[in-house]
Amino acid sequence: MVTALETDPLALYFFMPIHATATAWVLETNQTAYVLGLNAKGMLVHCYWGVKLPRVSDYPVPAESEGWSSFNAGGGLLPEEFPTYAGAKYIEPCLKLTFADGVRDTVLEFDSAKVEGNELQIHLRDTFYALRITLHYHVLENVDLLERFVTVHNQSDTAITVERFFSAQFHPPLHSNYRLHHLAGAWLKETQVQHETLGIGTKVLESRRITTGHQHQPWFALDNLEQPATETTGHVWFAALAWSGNWKLTAEKTIFGGTRVSLGLNDWDFALRLEAKRSFSSPKCIAGFSSAGFGAASRAFHGYVQTILPHPEITRKVLYNSWEATAFHVNEADQVKLAEIAKGIGVELFVLDDGWFHNRHSDNAALGDWWADKSKFPNGLNPLIEKVNALGMDFGLWLEPEMVSVDSELYHAHPDWVIHFPTRARTEMRNQLMLNLAKSEVQDYLIGILDKLLEQHNITFIKWDMNRNVSEPGWLEHHEPKEIWLRYVEGLYRVWGTLRQRHPDVIWQSCSGGGGRADLGILQFADQIWISDMTEPTMRLRIQEGYSQIYPANTMEAWVTDMGAKHLPLEFRFHVSMAGLLGIGTNLHHWSETEIATATRLVQAYKTVRHVIQFGNQYRLRSVFISNFSSLMYVTKDQSEAVIFAFRTHIPDPVKLPAIHLQGLEPTTQYEINGTIRSGSAWQHVGLEVNLTDFSSVMLHIKRVEP
Ligand code: DGJ
Repeated sequence: MVTALETDPLALYFFMPIHATATAWVLETNQTAYVLGLNAKGMLVHCYWGVKLPRVSDYPVPAESEGWSSFNAGGGLLPEEFPTYAGAKYIEPCLKLTFADGVRDTVLEFDSAKVEGNELQIHLRDTFYALRITLHYHVLENVDLLERFVTVHNQSDTAITVERFFSAQFHPPLHSNYRLHHLAGAWLKETQVQHETLGIGTKVLESRRITTGHQHQPWFALDNLEQPATETTGHVWFAALAWSGNWKLTAEKTIFGGTRVSLGLNDWDFALRLEAKRSFSSPKCIAGFSSAGFGAASRAFHGYVQTILPHPEITRKVLYNSWEATAFHVNEADQVKLAEIAKGIGVELFVLDDGWFHNRHSDNAALGDWWADKSKFPNGLNPLIEKVNALGMDFGLWLEPEMVSVDSELYHAHPDWVIHFPTRARTEMRNQLMLNLAKSEVQDYLIGILDKLLEQHNITFIKWDMNRNVSEPGWLEHHEPKEIWLRYVEGLYRVWGTLRQRHPDVIWQSCSGGGGRADLGILQFADQIWISDMTEPTMRLRIQEGYSQIYPANTMEAWVTDMGAKHLPLEFRFHVSMAGLLGIGTNLHHWSETEIATATRLVQAYKTVRHVIQFGNQYRLRSVFISNFSSLMYVTKDQSEAVIFAFRTHIPDPVKLPAIHLQGLEPTTQYEINGTIRSGSAWQHVGLEVNLTDFSSVMLHIKRVEP
């Protein structure tokens, strides 16, 4: 079949994000293209992922392969778009399942395709069984990204068991050596940027913790070792998974020159029983290609996050959190005193952390009993909330809804709501157990009690914490106990989603002992993330730079605390936090008058620039992973204003610091910095010199000079 597209490729070129023929599909964003098609044998093969080309006919056609000896059939050598466990492929498949009769081979063939605006659906069907697979592609032209997910439809009369179900497999160009960039961490040291050359074999990153985890992020970026990318140049292929539970990334390189990276639900200890006539969709995977280095890749994700955040347009308030001041020893009088000082500094949102609820005096008890402790708040929380509101601040509250303490009324009423194996001890971490959010009665309980809490109090901010990971993941009464990994997260999303819907103005923070649950899935429910319990600013700079690979500054909560006070001036500690959503978490009673005055000045300074930080584009100018002189910058979308931060820790060499080369400014427009006026191009190429001594920092607000 010859389409209008093939005869006159330029006719539709500038208007359509998806160009389709009967056997090939070209998906184009503003700058990039992703192409797939059917080869002569009918296999759906990935053809191209890179720079957008002038004509549809410029893109390569699907590859063919005859295989390599009797040991490697052709299928395994090709960049198959969605490989299943079948035949003699031996590569990492995206789908593995067992049919009711025990057959474990899934042989798919092309059925049909449908294009509607920005959406492409490719329907595949099993050659024997009543099984269908739909590959979904959503082209996000303006942010230069592609959303992908997959649906499996069991159209037969018997259940099947799905054992692996990835959202996508990606194929950067063949015959190149790639570096894998990823984020690794632990509690107090999340999102540390890692780079490694992919060798032959398979590299696996994953979470087995029922949550995203501090250990890795479901994200990768690849660049080509022979033409390495930098922050501003070079080709980068990247993707992230929107999922807050167990996930897996496999990066496989073969001797035949293929590199394939898969992302999806973790298949470790996993099984999904898909009943007759039922369908299941995978989480979304968001992918992109940048021809302008890692910075542009991050900004594409930052743009994407604005499209999923519940409140992308809202200016985030400067908050005070009393945890590090009072820990579990909270009461109305003490919190009011802190609130008064916070108000004087310019804080707009006062957050009461752990310790406020029934019988909570330490981490030994009380989780699950979400009503105010009578000994600390004899008349409930409302008197405190009213005083905070009277001071002109909003009120926020800490919760850890997924947890239960053995010493709690909830546990005594429902010991079986806890995730456990009946014959095994229930491992406690931080003296707490996990509620099984896969169960609808647990979800309903949480929705009921938290809804009531929000209805009865003027709470505008919730910090949703999660301080342990799963163990003994039993759910034996369920027909497929291994579904717990999936159903728990679905339950979490249901609880959070319902509460969001009922209380749409509340701002939610996702915290899991810091950054244990930061991902593109949770950001559809949480407006912001507490990215680490580590608040020592030099370490925090690294965590923040890692976090910025994927997530934007208007999701990144950052508090000034006493960590680092011995070796860093208050201004440095503030500047680090001002590069995100400024908060204060110190014991304000311990600050001197001078410190209070400095904090007041810096909070005021933040308020004058936060529109640039929270809504602008971010540029990493000098990496903290490379140098003890680091810098980053935010530029408003209209390029009229910018904010630069520069930090110097210890540099023994007394020579002058190198110039900082600014980015994101309009080249011919004049900008003033510290009394010097230059074009955007000059600030980029000549650069900006700053004079910093060891352990000092600077924040500069740049404005366009109006002609
Ligand atoms: C861990 C969080 O990361 C802290 O900020 C604090 O909220 C504690 N939990 C409270 O238990």
